[in-house]
Amino acid sequence: MAQTALSSRLIKVPLSKLQVGMFVAKIDDVGSLKIVTAGLLTSSDAISMLARKGVQYVWVDPDRSQSVEEDEPDAAEVSAAKPGNRDLRQQKAKKLLGEAKHLIRKVLGEVFHGKEVDAKPFGELADRMIESVMADADAFKCVSALRHKDAYLLEHSVNVSFLLVTFGRYLNLDKAMLKDLSIGGILHDVGKTRVDNDILNKPGKLTAEEFEEMKRHQEHAITLLDNLPGLSQVSKDVSFMHHEKLDGKGYPRGLKGEQIPLHGRMACICDIYDALTASRCYKEAMSPAAACKILLSLTPFHLDQQLVYQFIRCIGVYPVGSMVELSDGRLGIVWDLEGRDAMHPVVKCFYSLKHKKFVDVKYVDLNRCDINIAKAVSPCSLDIDPTPFY
Ligand SMILES: [Fe+2]
Repeated sequence: MAQTALSSRLIKVPLSKLQVGMFVAKIDDVGSLKIVTAGLLTSSDAISMLARKGVQYVWVDPDRSQSVEEDEPDAAEVSAAKPGNRDLRQQKAKKLLGEAKHLIRKVLGEVFHGKEVDAKPFGELADRMIESVMADADAFKCVSALRHKDAYLLEHSVNVSFLLVTFGRYLNLDKAMLKDLSIGGILHDVGKTRVDNDILNKPGKLTAEEFEEMKRHQEHAITLLDNLPGLSQVSKDVSFMHHEKLDGKGYPRGLKGEQIPLHGRMACICDIYDALTASRCYKEAMSPAAACKILLSLTPFHLDQQLVYQFIRCIGVYPVGSMVELSDGRLGIVWDLEGRDAMHPVVKCFYSLKHKKFVDVKYVDLNRCDINIAKAVSPCSLDIDPTPFY
């Protein structure tokens, strides 16, 4: 944009405060993004587009903006103070998750090219993941709720690992066990690196033949991991058992009932839950509440019923990081649940579904006002991108 177009009256506005009716004169520089023309924002789609491109700030020309509709302040609303160290811990969790993905991408890439699995680097990663979950499981939950559609195997591996550690911690398992669970989760689908890419990424339902081929990822996993020195039996079991069913109809070994130990049963639950709540190019992500219903429908023939109940209690109907619609029409992210019951979290609100526009970010404490959660919202059902608010 020409420098001459800029006036000294431009106001730097964070994207969370941008509204339809504002005149955007300049956009925060985000690498490859080129904005050719300035203009009046006439729809929330344009704001969503900017959010998708990673824009954090824009410069608004107040002289050329239309009067912007303000939300009526809600008398019942209480803005909770932003949890002090939470942002810091969330940044740490974000960094750790980024490093984990980088490492897993590297190892999976090597296995894809025929190399042996090197599980060594995952030990240190597991230690740090456990430390992070111990310090603030919510920060980690929140970060991992953000997923990218194009890197399913990567995201799925990290998330199953994280879910296993979170669930294991809830069940009071010891630290050595948490570490084995974490490593097992990271490696659980390593056999998929040997499955034909067209089948792996096929949009929609697999044919019976393709499904048989897909199931072979578990035979590949046994080949890749069974004789791997330094990998514990628990970690191996997490990988080998995550498709087994209590009635013996699972694969690859058709194990039954007591043949599947606690960690194997946990792996089945975490794997299915994460697959259901992930968005893929061909399917929308399910809300955690809907995914929990499906888990229950798979008991007791497939999944362990008592363990599913415990998992639901651990995760919660509206887990931290999930999106909810409030009774006043605002949309937000479940932000803080510590010391609260599941129905009364602090919710970070940033969008009005009623007015279809972004609103000032507010931390709404549902314990201190008459607003409640109307329903869980799947991020895929929205035409806005919540990424900048995580
Ligand atoms: Fe799998």
